[in-house]
Amino acid sequence: MGDSILNKYWNRGCDFLGVEKSILCGAMSWISEASLVSAISNEGGFGIIAGGNMPPDLLVKEIEKTRSMTDRSFGVNLVTVANEFKGQVAQVAKTNVKHVFIAGGIPDAEEIKQLKEAGKKVTCFAPTLFMAKRMIKYGADALVIEGSEAGGHVGPVSTSVLVQEILFHLSEVPVFVAGGIGTGEMMANYMAMGAAGCQLGTRFVVADECIAHENFKNLYIKAKAKDAVVTTRMDRSLPTIPVRAIANKGTRKFDELQLELIGKLKKKEISKKEAFEQLESFWLGGLRKAAIDGDVDNGSVMAGQIVGTINSTEPAKSIIDNLVEHAEEAVKRFAAER
Ligand SMILES: Cc1cc2nc3c(=O)[nH]c(=O)nc-3n(C[C@H](O)[C@H](O)[C@H](O)COP(=O)(O)O)c2cc1C
Repeated sequence: MGDSILNKYWNRGCDFLGVEKSILCGAMSWISEASLVSAISNEGGFGIIAGGNMPPDLLVKEIEKTRSMTDRSFGVNLVTVANEFKGQVAQVAKTNVKHVFIAGGIPDAEEIKQLKEAGKKVTCFAPTLFMAKRMIKYGADALVIEGSEAGGHVGPVSTSVLVQEILFHLSEVPVFVAGGIGTGEMMANYMAMGAAGCQLGTRFVVADECIAHENFKNLYIKAKAKDAVVTTRMDRSLPTIPVRAIANKGTRKFDELQLELIGKLKKKEISKKEAFEQLESFWLGGLRKAAIDGDVDNGSVMAGQIVGTINSTEPAKSIIDNLVEHAEEAVKRFAAER
């Protein structure tokens, strides 16, 4: 670990993650691959590969590629709703990656056990205190609480409320806070409240090492906080998972797709499962279209509200240095004010 004044605040997170700086770059489908993940980890932070819907053998190759680009600690994010989730769990268990993050719903105790028996440290996402406690009972080694300010699939509750509902009541495992964080000051404040570290996604999309298309990054630079909106649920019969993205033709097409699927559901032309699958593949395909192909009009430009504070692209090193510098200044201020 380094000699930062932040050690007192993020020691637990650094020890858990095996890093110098308890700054996590949250997994982002299509975007969090070897280049960004290794860049973050090489700067002392913690990069996380997005497993998303990657076939298990490709995911193993991405882990190997990332390992060839960094000898530091990094993790893999798996999403419970992915078609090949169980296959991914089985394959990742055989790799030498130490940390697995499970998002997109509540994993079974069995899946956590399987990973832990393979020597992995498992971090889960907790939407409520009740679920946080259940995850710990299932064997989760750490938790992420992610508020609705975040980009991508989000829960309904803001970070500030989750902090009061969950963080303030848990000490058994390290808790990382995510959603709406873009500055060192904010990180320092969450850590002073008990967070073991902070997870940022949106802020790192504009890193030079991030493979996102320049159109995607340029839209991030232009967008205001209010442009990153959450999708609306059109009908109770199809309880979609909200997604936060920059409003464009793609978000309007999502509304149209919902209406079409609700119509088909009511006529019993498709099952709820099929409807959900179509919605999920819309997002995954839409994100690829925008982030990789650069079609930011029709694709999905998932982004958190903190996008409004982003003004330029820059190397991962300069983003991390800036976060650390401002977090250090904030904790010095805390000490001086006491
Ligand atoms: C473009 C984009 C894609 C994302 N994809 C995923 C994902 O595949 N899995 C996941 O667990 N979280 C995903 N997230 C959430 C991030 O990992 C992270 O928790 C979140 O961005 C933190 O909030 P922030 O956007 O306010 O920084 C995504 C976020 C963005 C912006």
